[in-house]
Amino acid sequence: MQRHERQELLGALRGYLEELADSGVDGLPLEPAGASAPPAGVTATAPVSAASPGGATAPAAAGPAGGDRSQRESLEDIRSDLGECRRCGLADGRTNLVFGVGNPHARLVFVGEGPGRDEDLQGEPFVGEAGKLLTKIIEAMGFTRSDVYICNVVKCRPPQNRDPQAPEVEACSTFMLRQVMAINPRVIVALGKFAAQTLLATKAPITRLRGSFHDFHGIPLMPTFHPAALLRDASLKRHVWEDMKQVMKLLADETQ
Ligand code: URA
Repeated sequence: MQRHERQELLGALRGYLEELADSGVDGLPLEPAGASAPPAGVTATAPVSAASPGGATAPAAAGPAGGDRSQRESLEDIRSDLGECRRCGLADGRTNLVFGVGNPHARLVFVGEGPGRDEDLQGEPFVGEAGKLLTKIIEAMGFTRSDVYICNVVKCRPPQNRDPQAPEVEACSTFMLRQVMAINPRVIVALGKFAAQTLLATKAPITRLRGSFHDFHGIPLMPTFHPAALLRDASLKRHVWEDMKQVMKLLADETQ
């Protein structure tokens, strides 16, 4: 089993245990698998107003604070629909398709732009230099990478790390939108202009979008600078930290 597969499995297991704990189960019976029924639905508080985004085929998702998870499309369904994708020219240059990693029931989802060289080689998002910085940000927020979910707008590396082109974003972003709707997190962080503009269907610059919450189908979305931009200009770090403090506050307020 590859490292990213192991991490996906650990993320899934952690998410399942968290869901059990949320619904009041504080122990597991020592019975063979399948001998006990799964607990009834998770706590519901608010509905998601939107239909599936971007032409996605996800069934109507329950609200950001709960609902019937069993009615939602799973990440496995989306991954298998994506298959050995050749929907755009980026397929020709890839080593690995980079789907996403982390907790499928994450309360916090990070969306980046597209895989770079390291990600293409390892099949996991945000593992290169920008990824190390993102990991530090996640840890400074009090989480680990396996607590959250991380994915990108495009799943294959653009040549020479160029920006993804419109037809590539168009062919691929529906899968990212479906991933977000399947996870149904409490908060989304859009890393950089591509993620923010794709999720919010806007052309507004990241400098104008960042710093406040926007609505993504009922889920608060915080755009912020991409970690690669912080590697080029360290003075942006304090803005990102201000944005992440707002995200942490929203998540903390929610659990009270
Ligand atoms: N930059 C991104 O936007 N995504 C990655 O996975 C890595 C670098």
